[in-house]
Amino acid sequence: VRRLKTRSPRRAPLPKAVNLFDFEALAQKHLPLVAWEYLCGGAGDEITLRRNRECLDAIRLKPRVLRDVSQIDTQLTLFDQRLDHPILLAPAAYHKVFHPQGEAAAARGAGAAGAVLVVSSFATVKFEAIAAAAKAPLWFQLYVQRDRAMTRELVQHAETVGCRVLCVTVDTPVGGSRNREMRRGFNLPPGVKMENVAGVRGGSPSAGHITSGDIYSEHLDPSMTWETIDWLRSFAKTPLILKGILTKEDARLALEHGAAGILVSNHGGRNLDTAPASIEALPGVVEAVAGRVPVLFDGGVRRGTDVVKALALGARAVMIGRPYLWGLAADGAEGVTQVVRLLLAEFRSAMALCGVTSLAQISPEVLWP
Ligand SMILES: Cc1cc2nc3c(=O)[nH]c(=O)nc-3n(C[C@H](O)[C@H](O)[C@H](O)COP(=O)(O)O)c2cc1C
Repeated sequence: VRRLKTRSPRRAPLPKAVNLFDFEALAQKHLPLVAWEYLCGGAGDEITLRRNRECLDAIRLKPRVLRDVSQIDTQLTLFDQRLDHPILLAPAAYHKVFHPQGEAAAARGAGAAGAVLVVSSFATVKFEAIAAAAKAPLWFQLYVQRDRAMTRELVQHAETVGCRVLCVTVDTPVGGSRNREMRRGFNLPPGVKMENVAGVRGGSPSAGHITSGDIYSEHLDPSMTWETIDWLRSFAKTPLILKGILTKEDARLALEHGAAGILVSNHGGRNLDTAPASIEALPGVVEAVAGRVPVLFDGGVRRGTDVVKALALGARAVMIGRPYLWGLAADGAEGVTQVVRLLLAEFRSAMALCGVTSLAQISPEVLWP
């Protein structure tokens, strides 16, 4: 028994991370418990968080054979940008909680893997420094602030440093009930702060998170409506996409209000628990949008096969959230690069084994009926 214990796989150092879950294990070793709980937690009973994975796992792919898969092309054009592959890095707040170089390391790592990084409103490194570290395009994620003048400045600041898409998060008028954070009293560590949201009082650094009994956050605007989207469009110079749409109804409204794209997302299961898995919501949104604008997808993507599944159901590209933060925590910029490269290699392998060689060929035909 003693021998078995000392050799238990949990304790053995990983010889090499070969997939995203290996990076999850590495990240856990590197992070203090409170940061770990912030990173991996979901809302409520984490039913939606688990469902994101369960529903992706439940979809089966259809292998096809003898189709010459010697050349695989993963390139695409999205919002007039040529991208090497359809794997983007979702906006995530507070990268310095995971690595001392924060978003600068994430941008460097993303660039080395040819991945777009969507910079969060709650970045802990100044936009200029993130842009200086970036070699691939940056997009900007907006949490609309109660102070509209400040919100406008934030958008214009992001545009000035070269962010090419404005990704407005619409699923967070209030934060979800994230019990793990609440239990640990998650707060920003000393010296770490939101570097680009000027003018917000520093008293409550855990933006958007419910650490007290109040559901509202001073960093989120619960009064936001579709008119706010019209207002943003009136001055934004970059295409505006809406992040966090799960229903046909909201997808139609998004189009009426001029969204250039829609990101189907349940915020990684961190907001409304018992909402459906993102992958369950994707087909409905794709149907409502009917090809008029690109539909993007996030929530539970961990395997190259997941990317194939999302694209088969109509997504043009996917975003990953936690996995690149695992890479960041485990090994800084290099870890981020490795996470994207591993996922991309799996994606290319899955494409080949489904008998397709370009993104255009990924259709519902690759799914097992
Ligand atoms: C630690 C963490 C912080 C996040 N911060 C933000 C944020 O600042 N803005 C935002 O729109 N979404 C945020 N999200 C949600 C992600 O953009 C994304 O929707 C989600 O992580 C995708 O699911 P996945 O983690 O299963 O890949 C955050 C997610 C995590 C895990």
